[in-house]
Amino acid sequence: MPRDQYELLAAGDDDKALDELENRLRFNRVKKVLFHFLVVLAIMFAGFKGLKAYIKSSGQWLHKQPCGGQRNYSVRLPSHYQLPSGHQIPSVALGVWKATPGEVGPAVTAALKAGYRHIDDAWAYRNEEEVGKAIKDSGIPRDELWLTSKLWNTFHAPEDVEEALDDSLSKLGTEYLDLYLIHWPIAFKKGSNNELDVALTADPYPTWQKLEEMVDKGKVRNIGISNFNIARVKNLTANPLKYQPAVNQVELNFWNPQPELLAWARENGLLLEAYSPLGSNNQVKETLSVPEVKEIAGELGITPAQVIISWHVQRGTVVLPKSVTPSRVQENLQITALPEDLFDKLEAAAAAHPPKRVVNPSQSWGLGFDLFEDEWPY
Ligand SMILES: NC(=O)c1ccc[n+]([C@@H]2O[C@H](COP(=O)([O-])OP(=O)(O)OC[C@H]3O[C@@H](n4cnc5c(N)ncnc54)[C@H](OP(=O)(O)O)[C@@H]3O)[C@@H](O)[C@H]2O)c1
Ligand SMILES: *[C@@H]1O[C@H](CO)[C@@H](O)[C@H](O)[C@H]1NC(C)=O
Ligand SMILES: *[C@@H]1O[C@H](CO)[C@@H](O)[C@H](O)[C@H]1NC(C)=O
Repeated sequence: MPRDQYELLAAGDDDKALDELENRLRFNRVKKVLFHFLVVLAIMFAGFKGLKAYIKSSGQWLHKQPCGGQRNYSVRLPSHYQLPSGHQIPSVALGVWKATPGEVGPAVTAALKAGYRHIDDAWAYRNEEEVGKAIKDSGIPRDELWLTSKLWNTFHAPEDVEEALDDSLSKLGTEYLDLYLIHWPIAFKKGSNNELDVALTADPYPTWQKLEEMVDKGKVRNIGISNFNIARVKNLTANPLKYQPAVNQVELNFWNPQPELLAWARENGLLLEAYSPLGSNNQVKETLSVPEVKEIAGELGITPAQVIISWHVQRGTVVLPKSVTPSRVQENLQITALPEDLFDKLEAAAAAHPPKRVVNPSQSWGLGFDLFEDEWPY
């Protein structure tokens, strides 16, 4: 006797074949329902509590929890900070210092593709034109981007500020900057690269007033400072400012973590931006092989660079990693909150050695004083 619908079909018995097929489908449905019922029963039997305990213990095992405390893995790092103007500045930017002609454009293209919306440039980097072209080619609307540039030392005289800004605007191919910084608290005489303008170095207020005017003219949305120590910030902000500095961009990295400046800035509502966050070209290797950094990276399953960049944002600063290597550009945007005990461990390790700057042009500019330590009179 034929057994299944195929044999019945082959035997030419269509009606019976259809019946047989229906029977089988019905049986399969019953099997399915029964199976799901059994699974539900099994879960109820094992108990949700047991399941939860299992997940928790395997999680702790994965992260080799040494201290027995609870780690909170739902903490998220901010993607933006709010400035006094109300504008939202993205917390991670692509830095483009020392990104040379021919490599800076592709780096910006890679960054925009990876999701960066913040580029940290400067007139002095001599690459604003190529950066501007890459931005234009990306087709990303201007108002979705955050562009920062910086006023060079030779243009601090109020009558020179607007022309320098216009030059950056035209090179970047934009009508306005989101942020314009006084690059250094050092003013050189126009056309000179080492002749100090003593008055404008001692008191940058006239330069600042001109920058305030640029805000009112709509050429920049926010203005800020860079490389200012606490005394210099206090000196500037002791004036009746129309606009407070939106940020102070300073060197912050494992070798020069500046906890006092960070605490002072936080108390005074001044956002810091971490430049040379990886230790710049000449220290990046050492930074990424610090034992604590490697250990935390291993524990969290992220890279040493991601540990450092995340640490900066967790300290409450904007971070400006520079890379012209597409894979690194991508890597540097992926930040993760470090569990509190690991964050504290890294913070302690960074503070455990005498601070050492990577960037200090005081000597090469022939200043005769350390611009980070001194204030008027030099
Ligand atoms: N306001 C100021 O006076 C001032 C001063 C200095 C810097 N800055 C700003 O801060 C930005 C960053 O500082 P920085 O350029 O001095 O140094 P940085 O970002 O600390 O380090 C850049 C170096 O790290 C390498 N690197 C980047 N990501 C990496 C990764 N995931 N793995 C391994 N190596 C990696 C880069 O190599 P590759 O590029 O070859 O990949 C480059 O050699 C500057 O570009 C600039 O925008 C401002
Ligand atoms: C974990 O962090 C999240 C986000 O900050 C917070 O809402 C939550 O209350 C925290 N949980 C514990 C147990 O601390
Ligand atoms: C800032 O310092 C300079 C130099 O000492 C001084 O002339 C100026 O008055 C100071 N500004 C304020 C507002 O205190």
